[in-house]
Amino acid sequence: MAESMKGLKRSHRCGELSIANENETVTVMGWVQKSRNKGGIIFVDLRDRSGLLQLIFEEKECGSEYFAKAEKLRSEFVIAVVGQVKKRAGNVNANLATGEIEVIAKEIRILSESETPPFPIEENSKTKEDLRLKYRYLDLRRPDIQKNIMLRSKVATIVRQFLAEEGFLEIETPMLTKSTPEGARDYLVPSRVHPGNFYALPQSPQLFKQLLMCSGYDRYFQIVKCFRDEDLRADRQPEFTQIDMELSFVDVEDVIDVNERLLQKLFKETINVDVELPIQRMTWQEAMDRFGSDKPDLRFGMELKDVSEVVKDCEFVVFKSALENGGSVRGINANGQGAMPRKKIDALVEFAKGYGAKGLAYLAINEDGTYKSSFAKFMKEEELTALVEAMEGKPGDLLLFAADKNKVVWDVLGALRVEIANQLGLLDKNVYKFLWVTEFPLLEYSEEEGRYTAMHHPFTMPMEEDLDFIDTEPGKVRAKAYDIVLNGTEIGGGSVRIFQNHVQEKMFEALGFSKEDAYDRFGFLLNAFKYGVPPHAGLAYGFDRLVMLMAKEDSIRDVIAFPKIKDASCLMTQAPDVVEESQLEELSIAVSIKKEQEE
Ligand code: AMO
Ligand code: AMP
Repeated sequence: MAESMKGLKRSHRCGELSIANENETVTVMGWVQKSRNKGGIIFVDLRDRSGLLQLIFEEKECGSEYFAKAEKLRSEFVIAVVGQVKKRAGNVNANLATGEIEVIAKEIRILSESETPPFPIEENSKTKEDLRLKYRYLDLRRPDIQKNIMLRSKVATIVRQFLAEEGFLEIETPMLTKSTPEGARDYLVPSRVHPGNFYALPQSPQLFKQLLMCSGYDRYFQIVKCFRDEDLRADRQPEFTQIDMELSFVDVEDVIDVNERLLQKLFKETINVDVELPIQRMTWQEAMDRFGSDKPDLRFGMELKDVSEVVKDCEFVVFKSALENGGSVRGINANGQGAMPRKKIDALVEFAKGYGAKGLAYLAINEDGTYKSSFAKFMKEEELTALVEAMEGKPGDLLLFAADKNKVVWDVLGALRVEIANQLGLLDKNVYKFLWVTEFPLLEYSEEEGRYTAMHHPFTMPMEEDLDFIDTEPGKVRAKAYDIVLNGTEIGGGSVRIFQNHVQEKMFEALGFSKEDAYDRFGFLLNAFKYGVPPHAGLAYGFDRLVMLMAKEDSIRDVIAFPKIKDASCLMTQAPDVVEESQLEELSIAVSIKKEQEE
């Protein structure tokens, strides 16, 4: 039966007590981690979010009534205990912050009992994630998750503090709004008052923060939920959080400066990592050429090499036809992997195919200098020698080549490089390699849509020196856009914005919007620009991704209190769910459910 805590007040969290509190009488409250009855003496590990504390119950200390209560304790009971802090009589537990002490209980109240939980509440749980997420409120009791959630809170606090000191204002923007173009599908909310009309949940506060600049707030930030209906991965959730900011009267350098100082403070004060400034920078073109990725992981080498020139006259049809079709042949050198078994190489070929490759050509250099290769037979001896030389191949190395359109080659080798590094254990989570990637292309051609789309978003400023190409060679125009990358993850991105209507209109034109379309969707922004607009720029971090890397986790689900799974559902609440017919009627919505869902 549950007892009241009336008259008791918690004096300390479990983990806050130490030998410095010796002989003090304290009141602690928390969850029973474990209770062991050794006849005459009961040891209880009490847990709260600060840690574990050992409690000792002996009849001579607490009396028979309380001792009898202690005998009833089971895991996850919630109790309040008054007792005295003593130096441990038994062995000191060096693994525990409170390992030198114990609390000799004088009084106990059972505030709440617990059924046996569906899985043990413990660190490094081996329980399947599905079960943990179904009972997320229990999962969230586990110390490693609690550490992550507390780290997340600390990051938010430091960000707020830093940005406030830098003169940023925290301003909220609407959740029920019009579609914001960040390239994903919108989540829609039906309007009851305007039948047939829908709000869109924001993919980001992009347009509103630009309007705030028009309104003179000159430095804005917000820690804000964003919604994107896209395919989910370990680092993508349908609703996620951004640390979003926008600044007036600034250029690229100003945004980078304030953010470098923010990152430095953040990493020092949370996980005691020194971020050396300035952070390395690389243009998008260099990142693609050297790493096959616009978010290169710089913790290891294995850089791409363009060998198109070297193989251009060879008879290997795979290489030849790729070059004839305007593509390239590039390779990576997996140093020391020449003895990789055929089966493992075949698995890499399959992996490459997952990224759009038609195949993966390999050449292993045996210790005696001979080759084991999928294509050597199609090439002359001197061509092979030149190729190996270009790849800086040594006996014992494994060379892997992709031949295709540049985009495919980059995707394949960029991903392969990380996959091999992962297999070789080169991705040390204690090492933090930051990188700014700059000068992104403004536009990219979408085969699917048959038109150019904005690589960042349509409000990004083209580089002045490229502006003339926008009508003639749109693919060539570079943008004043920058991403901040950490260990191969894009943790943030932003740009200098267009603030002149004629440039904005040109941009919409390049994107294939008619003037009417543009005004229909973004008229409020274009109109605002007619009334005096400051030059402005901004950036947004993926808050979840940032905390994930700080917490050394592999998934953002581990740093979000109530995350969703791959199919965007919540295993705990069962959202999304069907609603009452009457609710739909009120919203003038008729649902046409597919047959298989009805069954
Ligand atoms: P962008 O679209 O690059 O920029 O988003 C900013 C950052 O948000 C994170 N992110 C996500 N995190 C988790 N789940 C998702 N589905 C997800 N999508 C994005 C990434 C990304 O770098 N308005 C612009 C910012 C600006 O220009 O100021 C924007 O939203 O870490
Ligand atoms: P094939 O002649 O098709 O058997 O291919 C010979 C070798 O080239 C095999 O190892 C294939 O995996 C590889 N290969 C095929 N297509 C490509 C490609 N686009 N890029 C690199 N290697 C390829």
